[in-house]
Amino acid sequence: MAHAPTPHASSRETIAEFERYVVPNYRRYPVSLVRGENSWIWDAEGTRYLDFFPGWGCNLIGHCPPRVVEAVREQVGELIHVPNTWYMEAQGRFARALSERSFGGQCFFCNSGAEANEAAIKVARAHGAPKGKFKIVTMEGGFHGRTYAALTATAQPKYHEDLGPMLPGFAYVKYDDVDAVAAAIDDQTAAVMLEPVQGEGGVKIPSADYLPRLRELCDRTGTLLILDEVQTGMGRTGEWFAYQHSGVVPDVLTCAKALAGGIAAGVMMAKPEVAASLRPGMHASTFGGNPIACRAGLATVETIEADGLLPRGAEIGERFRARFHALRDEMPGKIREIRVLGTMIGLDLTFDASAVVAGCLSRQLLINATHGHVVRLLPALTIADEQIDAGCDILAEVLRETNP
Ligand SMILES: Cc1ncc(COP(=O)(O)O)c(C=O)c1O
Repeated sequence: MAHAPTPHASSRETIAEFERYVVPNYRRYPVSLVRGENSWIWDAEGTRYLDFFPGWGCNLIGHCPPRVVEAVREQVGELIHVPNTWYMEAQGRFARALSERSFGGQCFFCNSGAEANEAAIKVARAHGAPKGKFKIVTMEGGFHGRTYAALTATAQPKYHEDLGPMLPGFAYVKYDDVDAVAAAIDDQTAAVMLEPVQGEGGVKIPSADYLPRLRELCDRTGTLLILDEVQTGMGRTGEWFAYQHSGVVPDVLTCAKALAGGIAAGVMMAKPEVAASLRPGMHASTFGGNPIACRAGLATVETIEADGLLPRGAEIGERFRARFHALRDEMPGKIREIRVLGTMIGLDLTFDASAVVAGCLSRQLLINATHGHVVRLLPALTIADEQIDAGCDILAEVLRETNP
């Protein structure tokens, strides 16, 4: 892709603006990023980085995917925004595309993962209200977002600190433990909500019978099953949605991050009989389902299908797995576990991973650490084998040099 050179402020100048004008609620690396292409990204000084964590999971089909760029360019010249008091072609088409690739649900569009989860919690409560059901069971170590209902659903005390009180009506249980969920459900429980793979929680992949057994429990007790696929959805694990590995379907599903090729978008999908509980006036999102996001989403679906990216996701995962198994054989004292589902990859170290992240950054490789000791990679489905190998070589060097 040709780029006309754009003059950019230096990283130092941009950092100075932030120090004066931007709320300091994020820990940021001291680099200003200005341009991306697939799995490459450049900073203001022209340094090129290999990105194993593009857009915190949002750039699942790479930075600036050509079909998405084209669709957005075309759409902004035609119509930028339409409120949800009107019909718009792209929203209808995108809802159909998602519904047909999942469980025939209906879509409510919004702009982020937290917002999608707010909608899921609301629809569950609205659905349960006639039977006096309002409680939601969620899983320890889970992550659902920063708005208050999503934050309450996030059963990690560190995220609640100084922000209480949380919303009433939530119960927390151990992940991958069906009996614990059964014990927490009572006649006021509206829904069980969880990630099919815990992402922020350290790429935790539950037992194969976990979702089928939860489905059976929810059916038996008249409880909705809500899956948060904000991070796992839209092809991340080698299927459109991670639940599709399990053979059972949820009642409600949320997705965001990669939903629209990196454009801000979120969706809550619900079975039609559940969706009907959200009556007109009960919920809304001004920008939700706007034509730009929906065109970008449609271009994302087209890219994943036309370029065969779902099977490629599984291949990428296996390539990383093979590399990491070799590394573990070499450094058994440093690598505790390797967890891979498609392009959702966790390398559980025996020590804090922050020095590994810093070491990789200094060698122009972008990775992430979560839960202190887990190296988390969410590479793009469009990454080349040579890029995987080059990045794994860097990671290996850094791991060899890092002494816990
Ligand atoms: C599983 C899951 N749910 C919800 C969220 C929140 O999404 P957002 O930051 O778009 O609100 C995240 C973000 O990391 C997530 O991983």
